[in-house]
Formats: sequence, structure tokens, C-alpha cells
Amino acid sequence: MTCNFSLLFCILVLLASGANAKNFTLVNQCKEPIWPAIINEKSGKFHGEGFKLDIGQSHFYSVPDGWSGRIWGRTGCDFDAKNGSGTCQTGNCGTSINCTSPGSLPVSIAEFTLSENLDYYDVSLVDGFNLPIVIKPGGGKGNCSVAGCDGDLRQSCSPDLVVKNNSSGKVVGCRSACDAFNSDEYCCRGTYQDPVICLPTNYSKSFKQVCPAASSYAYDDRVSIITCSASNYLVAFCASRNNTICSYQGDKFVCNNASEGFKALSQSWSLMLALLLVSILQFLF
Ligand SMILES: *[C@@H]1O[C@H](CO)[C@@H](O)[C@H](O)[C@H]1NC(C)=O
Ligand SMILES: *[C@@H]1O[C@H](CO)[C@@H](O)[C@H](O)[C@H]1NC(C)=O
Ligand SMILES: *[C@@H]1O[C@H](CO)[C@@H](O)[C@H](O)[C@H]1NC(C)=O
Ligand SMILES: *[C@@H]1O[C@H](CO)[C@@H](O)[C@H](O)[C@H]1NC(C)=O
Ligand SMILES: *[C@@H]1O[C@H](CO)[C@@H](O)[C@H](O)[C@H]1NC(C)=O
Ligand SMILES: *[C@@H]1O[C@H](CO)[C@@H](O)[C@H](O)[C@H]1NC(C)=O
Ligand SMILES: *[C@@H]1O[C@H](CO)[C@@H](O)[C@H](O)[C@H]1NC(C)=O
Ligand SMILES: *[C@@H]1O[C@H](CO)[C@@H](O)[C@H](O)[C@H]1NC(C)=O
Ligand SMILES: *[C@@H]1O[C@H](CO)[C@@H](O)[C@H](O)[C@H]1NC(C)=O
Repeated sequence: MTCNFSLLFCILVLLASGANAKNFTLVNQCKEPIWPAIINEKSGKFHGEGFKLDIGQSHFYSVPDGWSGRIWGRTGCDFDAKNGSGTCQTGNCGTSINCTSPGSLPVSIAEFTLSENLDYYDVSLVDGFNLPIVIKPGGGKGNCSVAGCDGDLRQSCSPDLVVKNNSSGKVVGCRSACDAFNSDEYCCRGTYQDPVICLPTNYSKSFKQVCPAASSYAYDDRVSIITCSASNYLVAFCASRNNTICSYQGDKFVCNNASEGFKALSQSWSLMLALLLVSILQFLF
């Protein structure tokens, strides 16, 4: 009886510890609220989620091993309080807080392909720029460099790429040259569909200058230099690569300000574990 019980207990503890899960912490260091969007791209099936992050807020998000997906930030969203429908000024992905389509351009994207031995991650500006994003791995083995953007391309965007809010005049994004001019040269298509021929352009170089650790055009092969296998990732919006308000402590990222996500999750885990134990005890005795 005791033996059975402790075996069950061990299995439960293993399950509850999320042995096969990787943990993402998203934090908003911007001066405005943002609405992060997450889409899972596994096996062609589209699964989208989203939520609001107020200034300084962080959110905990757990993904299974082998997860592939994209994370970005939406700005200027307005969702109806009653029926939940609405749109965002940048990064819009459907008509509600949970995404039903990929983000509209221009949008800076954090890309992940996770596996047991090796994770690929990168911040891509191939579809343009709307917010600075930094990816910081935690608890990793290998060459786990920090990826992403320190600068804000909205402040140094070439006039022919700039996207403004027409009523306020505020710059809300910077288009990629491929999106703006739709030419084979900028999009690395047709005769340019070759990493030897499709080289950096003035436009992609101006992105690279502000965001040296992000991909600036289709064949900007940053991904190959990352050989990291990490357990947790921080996705920080509007942080600099050296300075996020979150640090890796123990086995998780801890953010200075509200980390309600962490609390909520650990509470729900404890509650679930307790409930399971109670039901097993009832079953056994
Ligand atoms: C992810 O978070 C859960 C809950 O806090 C924790 O039990 C688990 O060990 C974490 N996973 C990793 C790989 O750190
Ligand atoms: C913490 O977050 C709240 C909103 O969640 C914000 O009002 C406050 O200014 C933040 N504090 C710091 C120190 O960033
Ligand atoms: C939601 O409500 C807004 C305003 O109350 C309305 O304009 C919109 O059509 C509604 N959308 C749906 C899908 O019901
Ligand atoms: C432009 O900015 C104004 C004021 O900030 C805002 O109310 C409006 O929704 C914005 N326009 C779009 C298309 O998002
Ligand atoms: C969005 O998705 C989350 C998680 O799947 C769910 O809990 C939430 O209720 C959804 N929100 C809306 C407005 O559909
Ligand atoms: C790790 O990757 C960086 C580029 O991201 C490179 O500069 C550095 O030399 C690599 N370090 C090792 C030990 O391979
Ligand atoms: C702003 O104005 C430009 C030029 O008139 C137009 O092409 C663009 O669609 C407008 N943007 C929005 C968000 O309305
Ligand atoms: C790109 O650079 C070349 C040479 O430096 C210059 O002549 C050209 O005007 C630049 N084009 C743009 C769009 O900035
Ligand atoms: C980040 O740190 C590196 C090396 O410590 C330094 O070279 C770089 O200038 C720093 N970047 C910023 C934005 O502070």
C-alpha cells in the first residue's frame, strides 16, 4: 500500500513539475500597454492566443517540448468590453484578443523552434518593425546568446518605409523594403532566391545598424550561430539586450514588477496537486 502510494506520488510530482515543459516569461517594458500575440505553427495547424500586458507587467506562458511558434506585440488595440471584438493598430491578427490569423505587417517577431537537444530562436525584422523585442534564454547549455533589438527603429525609420497613425501623426512602425517595394531584390525571390546573390541592401543595413542581433532580411542567417538548449525564455518588449527588469533566479525569470503570472500558475499547480492527492487518498483508504 505505502509502496503503491509513493510510486503514484512520485509520478504525480514528476508530472506536476512540468518535466517536458518550457517556460516563457513575457514582460512589457514599453511606455504603453501592449497585447502580446502567440501563434503555434506545429503541423500546419493554426493556434493563436493573446492577452494584454500593462506597463511593467509580466506574464508566464508554458509550452510543451518541441514547440514551434511566433510571439509578437500588438499596439493600439481596442477590444469591445462586451463582445470582445476589435482590432489593433499594429500586429493585428484577426478581430479579437486571441489571434485567428498571422500578424499584419509591419511587425517585429520573436521566432522559436524548440527541441530536446537544440533550440532555435531569433528576432526577425523581415516583416518590418513595430516594437523592440529581446529574447533571453535562461538555464541553457551551449552558446545561448541574447537575441533581439536594442534600438527603436520607429525613431530612425527611412521616410519611404515609415508607417504613421494618420490622425495623431505618431510613427507606429517601419516597413521592410520587401513589404514596401515588393521587388525580387528586396524579397530574395526569383533570380535573387539565393543567399549568395540576395545580399544586404541599404534598407536592411539601416535595420541592422539599430538591431545588430536581429535578422534584417530573408537570408540574414543569424539563426545558425545560436546553438543553445535552454529551459526557459524571457521575451522582453522595449528592453535593451543588457538590461531587462527580469533576472534568472533558481530556475525561473523573476521580474521586478508584478509577476502575477508566476503566482497564479504556481497556485493552480499546488491546488491541482492537492486535489489529486485528496482523491487518491480517498481511493486508497
Ligand atoms: C516550468 O515551470 C513549472 C512551474 O513553475 C516548473 O515546475 C518547471 O520546472 C519549469 N520548467 C523548467 C524547464 O524550468
Ligand atoms: C508596475 O506595474 C504597474 C501596472 O501593472 C504600473 O502601474 C507600475 O508603474 C509598474 N511599476 C514599475 C516600478 O514599473
Ligand atoms: C461588438 O460590439 C460593437 C459595439 O458595441 C459593434 O460595433 C460590433 O459590431 C460588435 N461585434 C460583433 C461581432 O458582435
Ligand atoms: C490614431 O491615434 C488616435 C489617437 O491616439 C487613436 O484614437 C486612433 O485609434 C489611432 N488610429 C488607428 C487607425 O489606430
Ligand atoms: C483566449 O484564449 C485563452 C486560452 O486559450 C482562453 O482562456 C480565453 O478565454 C480566450 N479569450 C477569448 C476572449 O476568447
Ligand atoms: C557564441 O555565439 C556568438 C555569436 O552569437 C559568437 O560571437 C561567439 O563566438 C560564440 N561563442 C562560442 C564559445 O562559440
Ligand atoms: C494613412 O494615410 C495614407 C496616405 O493617405 C494611407 O495610405 C494609409 O492607409 C493611411 N493609414 C491608415 C492607418 O489609415
Ligand atoms: C544606397 O546606397 C547608395 C550608395 O551608398 C546610394 O547611392 C543610394 O542613394 C542609397 N539608396 C538609398 C535608398 O538609401
Ligand atoms: C551591452 O553590453 C555590451 C558588452 O558588455 C556592450 O558592448 C554594449 O554597448 C551594451 N549595450 C547597451 C545598449 O548598453
